[in-house]
Amino acid sequence: GKTRHYKFNIQMKNVTRLCHTKSMVTVNGKFPGPSIFAREGDRLLIEVVNNVQHNISIHWHGIRQLRSGWADGPAYITQCPIQTGNSYVYNFTVIGQRGTLFWHAHISWLRATVYGPLIIHPKLGDNYPFTKPYKEIPLIFGEWYNGDPEEIIKQALLTGGGPNVSNAYTINGFPGPLNNCSAKNDTLKVRVVPGKTYLLRVINAALNEDLFFSIANHSLIVVEADAVYVKPFRADTVLIAPGQTTNLLLETKSRFPRANFFMAASPYITGTGKFGNSTVAGILEYGNPGRKFPVFKPTLPALNDTVFATDFASKLRSLATRQFPANVPVKIDRRFFFTIGLGTTPCDRANVTCKGPKGAKFSASVNNVSFVRPNTALLQSHYAGKSRGVYGSDFPVYPTRWFNYTGTPPNNTVVSKGTRVEVLPFGAGVELILQDTSILGAESHPLHLHGFNFFVVGRGFGNFDPENDPKNYNLVDPVERNTVAVPSGGWASIRFLADNPGVWFMHCHFEAHASWGLEMAWLVLDGNLPYQKMLPPPNDLPKC
Ligand code: C2O
Repeated sequence: GKTRHYKFNIQMKNVTRLCHTKSMVTVNGKFPGPSIFAREGDRLLIEVVNNVQHNISIHWHGIRQLRSGWADGPAYITQCPIQTGNSYVYNFTVIGQRGTLFWHAHISWLRATVYGPLIIHPKLGDNYPFTKPYKEIPLIFGEWYNGDPEEIIKQALLTGGGPNVSNAYTINGFPGPLNNCSAKNDTLKVRVVPGKTYLLRVINAALNEDLFFSIANHSLIVVEADAVYVKPFRADTVLIAPGQTTNLLLETKSRFPRANFFMAASPYITGTGKFGNSTVAGILEYGNPGRKFPVFKPTLPALNDTVFATDFASKLRSLATRQFPANVPVKIDRRFFFTIGLGTTPCDRANVTCKGPKGAKFSASVNNVSFVRPNTALLQSHYAGKSRGVYGSDFPVYPTRWFNYTGTPPNNTVVSKGTRVEVLPFGAGVELILQDTSILGAESHPLHLHGFNFFVVGRGFGNFDPENDPKNYNLVDPVERNTVAVPSGGWASIRFLADNPGVWFMHCHFEAHASWGLEMAWLVLDGNLPYQKMLPPPNDLPKC
């Protein structure tokens, strides 16, 4: 492989959308940030220089970081943040992966504006296992806030209530024409020619919403999920959760149509709380854009179309070929059942009622433990043998109490707080069942695991049944990915091999839920062989 150098200058920049201009944190003054391109096998050296008054760190979402955990990026997990005026070089090699991923800030809510595509092409000479595309088009979804996202989450955490929702969804940073204020330059336009196959690299970088995506009068062929090839299938609409990516083939019409077409995304909502409900659209144009053709609109599923969501998820299957096998762990050394969901913590404001449920504060947890961010990084303290007082390794691996998803909500929904990790021996085969508790109402949770891909061997509604549900596991061609949408009021079962030593964050990729504590970390110990051990930290690793 080649070594590729990038420079990320973190700087403030004025950006205007929806007729609002605001100063925001950006990479190189761009919104969204620049695309990173690499080939499988390449080494990436990305120098991040912090020139803003916020601490920052960048995560390369979906990159396995084999033995390069120091480059993973979540603040206070694998590194201390890069402070104002300082810099850090993220140094990692893309091993055994190719496809569409993305990068984003991994501290507070800075990823609202600091994110961009991370595109890994196959090795030179390797082909895609599908029609060679004529051109590739990245489509990255996000959310636009007229206000400052850092203020929004700060207020929400202070008052205990839900954070304000965004003002629009965006594609490649543009909210599109279906908003009350949209200036001409607010709309993404993609020009295509007839009779070609395009590869759409689709990324959901939105903070808090699953999104349906469709292009009017065109069908799409799904060929990849989270940078892993899948068995191709046709779909008019796809569903993509925050933290997920997908590759889609778009076959353009054989002749110039006398129309243009909306490429649109709208939210899939299962929760009961506040949510945005707008549609973002970009325009797919054939030929001369000066001509006034009508614009056709796609029909997107209803806001709560769980039937569609379930059907779509079940269609995603690994290729499971000799060249691209599905290496599902069969020998399970450690089996876990984790509840995930929302709860509360007591109001701690003097003489003020908190804005969360029953005058308390919103909280979220894994096995009733709401993650508390430490003041120093977990990986650094582990590596230095100084973990005492930073984290405990007594994560409760089976919930001490939980509630049936259909049951009456308990009076006491208070969860405990702590910084705990679960320790795994090197090479362990892990099965993890994730159960939505629905204590405060059912919600879907896009659970993201750092450092690994996992196989989604089962998924269902209601309470997981340890007797019967495993009988229906798919161990042949389950989808392999890094973010699973645990169904609302249901469960998902995933398997992975703990073959990557380090500290690996796992959390809900809904930023609100993560901020409330729906997070935990795995500590994978070194193996016995030299190449199974963590490498020492780089010299420029930031200090807290
Ligand atoms: Cu894309 Cu820990 O996140």
